[in-house]
Amino acid sequence: MSICEVTGKTDSSAAVSHPSEQDQDDICRDIPAILAKHRGERAEMIAVLEDIQARFGYLPEKALRMVSEQTGRSLVDIYGIATYYRLFSLKPRGEHIICACTGTACHVRGAADVVNEFQKQLGIASGETTPDGKFTLETVNCLGACALGPIVVIDGRYFSKVRRRKVRELLDQARDGFGALPSEQDGMLFPVRVHCPHCNRSLMDPGVVLDSQPTIRLSALADGHLGRLRLSSIFGSNLISAEWEIPQRSVVRVFCPHCNEEMLDGTPCPVCDAPLVSLLVGGGGTVQFCSRRGCGWHQLDLI
Ligand code: FES
Repeated sequence: MSICEVTGKTDSSAAVSHPSEQDQDDICRDIPAILAKHRGERAEMIAVLEDIQARFGYLPEKALRMVSEQTGRSLVDIYGIATYYRLFSLKPRGEHIICACTGTACHVRGAADVVNEFQKQLGIASGETTPDGKFTLETVNCLGACALGPIVVIDGRYFSKVRRRKVRELLDQARDGFGALPSEQDGMLFPVRVHCPHCNRSLMDPGVVLDSQPTIRLSALADGHLGRLRLSSIFGSNLISAEWEIPQRSVVRVFCPHCNEEMLDGTPCPVCDAPLVSLLVGGGGTVQFCSRRGCGWHQLDLI
């Protein structure tokens, strides 16, 4: 779960691609509006780059130059942000993004075999996109769920303990669309069951379902409003349900709905400096996630 998307840079190539003529026109038209939308926000540049990527599917060089000219921020700084976070890509990516972890814990569990099988099935190397534009394959050094490796994320959905023989099935599922597949059926998405770190009572709410799983029920304070917030219990999912519209980039204070204690981790987010939230995981361990909506840094440590 998270209050939005995951970050952390992959080792895919940072080569720059050139936009089409249509994209050139769209860049000139859309970038000023994106900049105006985020002016004055604390994490403004990340939000601007997120919007550009959402609009064009990647970060065109021309768009980054316009951002630099119009904000006064150096192009080197902007490229520094764009190349640091896994979220961002400097070249067009495929319709489906496959991100395989090759960090140490996943490596010792066979990640290299899994990556090789993806490369063989797709006919591309890591960092490349298939000629039909359907799939991009990337690798990353850690996705924060080491005990469950090898981890593969496809189109934002996490799969644990992936084996070589599962690769074909995962590619077929991605083509068909994961949305049509209840998470219990694929057996590889992993839900977490969490407890309050203060009173140890369960935070799971079977009465409200997201991603076909019981949600994590919390009390939350954001934008001057106190209300119920429910998070998907699927690790890595962005789905939330709130009683009010929580503004992007706002910091959400999270409280236990039983004992009302605030569930802070005491450490800042390594991406945006907002406070981290920490919950106990059933069976032992913790899950941490960033309290800033739209940052989405999160990590799972199982005992
Ligand atoms: S090494 Fe793969 S999730 Fe950490």
